[in-house]
Amino acid sequence: MARALHSRLGKSMRNIRSGILVLLAGCVLVKGQDAPASKLPAGYAGSEACGLCHEDISKAFASTPHHGLDTNKKRGFEGRSCEACHGPAQKHTESASAEDIRNPGKLAAAAADKICMSCHLNEPTHVGRLQSSHAKDQVSCTSCHKVHAEGGKQLVQRGAQAINAQCASCHTNAWAQFQKPFHHRLPEGAMSCVDCHNPHGTTRPGNTNFFAANEPGCFSCHGDKRGPFMYEHAPVRFEACSTCHETHGSTNPRMLVRQEVRLVCLECHSNLPTVKTGALGTVPPAFHDLRSPRFQNCTVCHQKIHGSHVDRNLLK
Ligand code: HEC
Ligand code: HEC
Ligand code: HEC
Ligand code: HEC
Ligand code: HEC
Ligand code: HEC
Ligand code: HEC
Ligand code: HEC
Ligand code: HEC
Ligand code: HEC
Repeated sequence: MARALHSRLGKSMRNIRSGILVLLAGCVLVKGQDAPASKLPAGYAGSEACGLCHEDISKAFASTPHHGLDTNKKRGFEGRSCEACHGPAQKHTESASAEDIRNPGKLAAAAADKICMSCHLNEPTHVGRLQSSHAKDQVSCTSCHKVHAEGGKQLVQRGAQAINAQCASCHTNAWAQFQKPFHHRLPEGAMSCVDCHNPHGTTRPGNTNFFAANEPGCFSCHGDKRGPFMYEHAPVRFEACSTCHETHGSTNPRMLVRQEVRLVCLECHSNLPTVKTGALGTVPPAFHDLRSPRFQNCTVCHQKIHGSHVDRNLLK
């Protein structure tokens, strides 16, 4: 361990020494002839300079998308991609001091995100528009996107398993809900968190891609529940699906919030005055005799519980 550290330090000292030498040589060159470095605006050192001392980082960086900034005319950081995020670094290349360089990793989340958003604002991504960072700036872009691809980490997680693992690393509670017997099949790798949530933040509650039943989200897969129906079931239309379902996972069949269907229904319908019979099953002689097993499994008769095109009582 100590030896490894020692040789690492030794290596970086060598790098730095040779870096300074080459830099000095570079200055002479710039003076002597019109080298490309002179095209850089004042205060900038250019990406090549960084590579002299930060060899490993620069090599790894070359395989990431931001490397393209070096040749990208539109973004205005030609030849100085490193400084797109780290700021003008001429001074740092001379002092080699951490004081003289901006490190987004040491900034508050909001300040770090501001750097990223200077280019990525409002960009459409696979998971929705980039509006702001996660959960009102407590979690910065760099918690999920490893710019330097260190430790073999990808800049963007691809595939359900990789995305779920990333989200689960912080959201252990949510992940635990998916381990319950009735769940959306995330643990099996068939779906991912970003099928329902936009990690880039939305103006909607809970960071969800939807917030009430009449918003898309669940409907992208459960289109048959979308409606509009001739006969709507009020809570399906006006409240969220999570009024009746535990959407991550549940110990109850159909991911319901209660163990039996009728308990879900009676939560609203035992007191709800209904048009014909008054409160359900409480005003004798009620059509629904709730003591009779025949009436206990409500959805045997009320099959179209999410809405019906033909029957106002949701029977068919
Ligand atoms: C002459 C060598 C040298 C050059 C050239 C150089 N650096 Fe550094 N850099 C260092 C050293 C040494 C450190 C470690 C400083 C410390 O930890 O006190 C460092 C640290 C950093 C850090 C981390 C600062 C922190 O807060 O921990 C960043 C970011 C950085 N350099 C970026 C750059 C960029 C971008 C360039 C090119 C524009 C560059 N460096 C060029 C020597 C150099
Ligand atoms: C897209 C923005 C971005 C670009 C471009 C970029 N960096 Fe960084 N750099 C970061 C962030 C963010 C960190 C903080 C660590 C992290 O989250 O990956 C960082 C950290 C560093 C560090 C400190 C490493 C450490 O272990 O603390 C060095 C040195 C560095 N960058 C050098 C460079 C060099 C050299 C280049 C160009 C080859 C470059 N960076 C390009 C965003 C960037
Ligand atoms: C100077 C402009 C600029 C800055 C600043 C910047 N980026 Fe980028 N970023 C780009 C460009 C250009 C690409 C290449 C893809 C493209 O053309 O959109 C890119 C690509 C990406 C990608 C997508 C890669 C892919 O596979 O599609 C991610 C993720 C990303 N950047 C994150 C960040 C983060 C995080 C930061 C802040 C630490 C940041 N960027 C700062 C310009 C920038
Ligand atoms: C909570 C984790 C998380 C945070 C925070 C986050 N992202 Fe992402 N981002 C992702 C995931 C996961 C994907 C990939 C989604 C996919 O491929 O379906 C992604 C995709 C992207 C892409 C597009 C890549 C593509 O090809 O679709 C860009 C660009 C991007 N993020 C930039 C940012 C920026 C800039 C920030 C900060 C404002 C940020 N992200 C914050 C998780 C995050
Ligand atoms: C670095 C840790 C971290 C990672 C990684 C992370 N989150 Fe978060 N997330 C948080 C924090 C902290 C909050 C705000 C506090 C809270 O509500 O738990 C939050 C909030 C949320 C919320 C909003 C909760 C609410 O009630 O408003 C959702 C939804 C969410 N995250 C989904 C995701 C998804 C999806 C991913 C993976 C793409 C992800 N998170 C990755 C830390 C993280
Ligand atoms: C099938 C769609 C769906 C999937 C997939 C999904 N969520 Fe959710 N999530 C929701 C809904 C809907 C809510 C709002 C629940 C409510 O308000 O009762 C929610 C709420 C949340 C919340 C805030 C409430 C809480 O429980 O703290 C977090 C955090 C969260 N989800 C994280 C995740 C993570 C992490 C993943 C992936 C492991 C994930 N979700 C996958 C639909 C989904
Ligand atoms: C990416 C597609 C997708 C999205 C988005 C989605 N689901 Fe699902 N859902 C499925 C699949 C596939 C199943 C079947 C799971 C299985 O049994 O293998 C399922 C099953 C269910 C079940 C249980 C059905 C049963 O027979 O046990 C309920 C309830 C449910 N989803 C509600 C929701 C709600 C509410 C939302 C929105 C918060 C939602 N789903 C979003 C794909 C999705
Ligand atoms: C008023 C309560 C309630 C609401 C609100 C509700 N559901 Fe259901 N849902 C149920 C009940 C009860 C069942 C079980 C039916 C059965 O066992 O016959 C069910 C079953 C399901 C099933 C599996 C069986 C099937 O019909 O495919 C899916 C998928 C589903 N619901 C999705 C949704 C979605 C998506 C939403 C939001 C648009 C939603 N539910 C809103 C009560 C509700
Ligand atoms: C969150 C509260 C809530 C839950 C849970 C709920 N309902 Fe409803 N239901 C309502 C409301 C509100 C109406 C509209 C009542 C009205 O217009 O008189 C309604 C209407 C109905 C109707 C049509 C009655 C009419 O006169 O149009 C039937 C049938 C029905 N519900 C059956 C059920 C069944 C079966 C369940 C359980 C699977 C259930 N409901 C769960 C709130 C709920
Ligand atoms: C055996 C079949 C059957 C079962 C089981 C059943 N219902 Fe009904 N329900 C009906 C029929 C038929 C109607 C229409 C009655 C009418 O038009 O007079 C109805 C009407 C209703 C209405 C609207 C009628 C009104 O009073 O305005 C509600 C609400 C309702 N049922 C809820 C429930 C609930 C909750 C359960 C489970 C506890 C349930 N039903 C079980 C057959 C059934």
